[in-house]
Amino acid sequence: MFEGDFSDHDWEHALGGMHALLWEGAELIGHASVVQRRLLHGGRALRAGYVEGVGVRADRRGRGHGAAVMQALERVMRGAYDLGALGATDEAAQFYVARGWTQWQGPCFALTPNGIRRTTADEGCIYVLAHAVGLDVFGELTCDWRDGDVW
Ligand SMILES: CC(C)(COP(=O)(O)OP(=O)(O)OC[C@H]1O[C@@H](n2cnc3c(N)ncnc32)[C@H](O)[C@@H]1OP(=O)(O)O)[C@@H](O)C(=O)NCCC(=O)NCCS
Repeated sequence: MFEGDFSDHDWEHALGGMHALLWEGAELIGHASVVQRRLLHGGRALRAGYVEGVGVRADRRGRGHGAAVMQALERVMRGAYDLGALGATDEAAQFYVARGWTQWQGPCFALTPNGIRRTTADEGCIYVLAHAVGLDVFGELTCDWRDGDVW
């Protein structure tokens, strides 16, 4: 389901929130989860539903399963969070855009143990789903700290 450089940190980032699991009989063929993070933007600490661990088994792609797990999580986001956010791979970016997610255009930062640091390498990869709060996607966006990929 997950390929390439899906690390232990990536898996750990997907835990602690709510999972959407897609089963075919006893076999898991699709997964995505949403965890709570704080994103600083416009002078507020927004409660973000951060999407992690999106994957459909390779031989089951292109059948609407990815859309189904995302739809379930987007419902949770609309009900429980100020906004949705995620860091997309280049390959999957258009999948999210087609679902109404918007690419963040402004500078991005992380609250690291050594202070606020710009995360230039992640800029262009961050997508948001706004519904409850107004967002200026050309403004600054800062995430809380964690080991592994911060975004
Ligand atoms: C991205 C992924 C989850 C999509 O799952 P999927 O089950 O193939 O997607 P769906 O069949 O539900 O596709 C829904 C729509 O998105 C489109 N789509 C799917 N993957 C796409 C992609 N990589 N780029 C552009 N569009 C895509 C489909 O064409 C479909 O469009 P339609 O509704 O107009 O027919 C799947 O390709 C995957 O597991 N990839 C490897 C892991 C990965 O990249 N995860 C994302 C990390 S951020």
